[in-house]
Amino acid sequence: MILKPMSSKKGTEKELLWQSRFAEPFDREALLFSSSVDVDKVLYQEDIKGSIAHVTMLSEEAIIPVEEARLIVEGLEEIEQEISSGALVPGWEDEDIHTVIENRLKEKIGPIAGKMHSGRSRNDQVVTDTRLYMKQAIGELNNALEDLKKLLLEKAETYRYTIIFGYTHLQRAQPVSAGHYYLAWFNMFQRDGERLKDLYKRVNISPLGAAAFAGSTLPLNAKRSMELLDFGELFRNSIDAVSDRDIIIEFISACSIVMMHLSRFCEDLILWSSSEFDYLKISDAFATGSSIMPQKKNADIAELVRGKTGRVYGDLINILTIMKGLPLSYNRDMQEDKPPLFDASNSTISSVRIFTKMLAHTKLKEERLAKLTEEDLSLATEIAEYLVRKNLPFREAHRITGKIVSHAIESETALQHIPLETYRTFSDLFDSDLYDALKPETSVNTKQSHGSTSFASVDEQIKAAREKL
Ligand code: ARG
Repeated sequence: MILKPMSSKKGTEKELLWQSRFAEPFDREALLFSSSVDVDKVLYQEDIKGSIAHVTMLSEEAIIPVEEARLIVEGLEEIEQEISSGALVPGWEDEDIHTVIENRLKEKIGPIAGKMHSGRSRNDQVVTDTRLYMKQAIGELNNALEDLKKLLLEKAETYRYTIIFGYTHLQRAQPVSAGHYYLAWFNMFQRDGERLKDLYKRVNISPLGAAAFAGSTLPLNAKRSMELLDFGELFRNSIDAVSDRDIIIEFISACSIVMMHLSRFCEDLILWSSSEFDYLKISDAFATGSSIMPQKKNADIAELVRGKTGRVYGDLINILTIMKGLPLSYNRDMQEDKPPLFDASNSTISSVRIFTKMLAHTKLKEERLAKLTEEDLSLATEIAEYLVRKNLPFREAHRITGKIVSHAIESETALQHIPLETYRTFSDLFDSDLYDALKPETSVNTKQSHGSTSFASVDEQIKAAREKL
């Protein structure tokens, strides 16, 4: 649908909150352009919660009479019902959700509604709403990440003795325990959760009481509204309180990193479920077919999560660009902070959730993996380390092993099937115990270094991961 320009020259019908100093009404098309209701209506509960806290504080401080505060609070509670039941549909004819609620309150209780704004501006109001929203979003994202980590730990336990190829440069590199692989992801999502917990401290700060940006001559008790809204700390500087959007930038950065991790994981799943790799089965419930090629089974969910990563990166660039040239303090540009915030939050939370569900319905093809890893050149490093154990400098061991690999390729013989006499033509350090080193289990399980893929190390990592949950 293409938006048509509005032909009517008519101004707005409703009086806007700031209208009195203007001789002419605001242009309707300008209002349609500037209204944020379509986006910020999702904040109605936060907005009402914030207003109730502010009005409660105002009455406790005797800035407005208790009886009037009661009327306002009751009115606000009714409006919350009206919006959630669909009886009141916020429309663009109001500038934003704050105005929708205030105008409706005025309809219900008359001019007393205007007292709700004593000592408060939409500037501190909107950022209070945003912070309340973000506290919830961080909680939800964190819960989703915890579920994913739980699943990864289960996978690590299930597949701790399953040997798969580890890759570098997408070339078969060395065999590893599949448990080790799943635990690598566990660690990444663990850090993602830690990032969220850290930024939560900065989100959990009340900006309410900063008013427009300079504070108020009224005896506001900002600490009290902070407590009523369950914020952990109070803003220190009223200009900063209304001007800053770091928290949104930090949050979308954290979301971007989560998405980047998911996207890489999706890439593995897409590759591994292809006929070329065929290491893993994704349940039919999380795959799609083709409308023309009947045999197709596509990993669309993984592809979509990978695709949504681009959206979230876009949200990050979006908010960074909005903020970069803004003079202090509040500017209307900042209204544009909400689309990227909501989009990043919804995209990331839904991606983590659906990814977890899909991953739960994947199975490694253990028999095939066992067959493939058994006789593969990815065991070549074992030969080099075998020679190192016999005291050969690693560079020399590497050179000799390279020659053996080239012989194996030319003669089309697996490393395990090259006779000892032939090995001895490359180095007389070889003995029959070499063949034991050339078993994938031995390769994995004789790793001794810290955090490696040996079964003992994987067990230890599982234990450490369990403590993190
Ligand atoms: N809708 C506005 C926003 O989201 C609310 C603040 C309006 N403040 C103002 N001074 N016009 O940022």
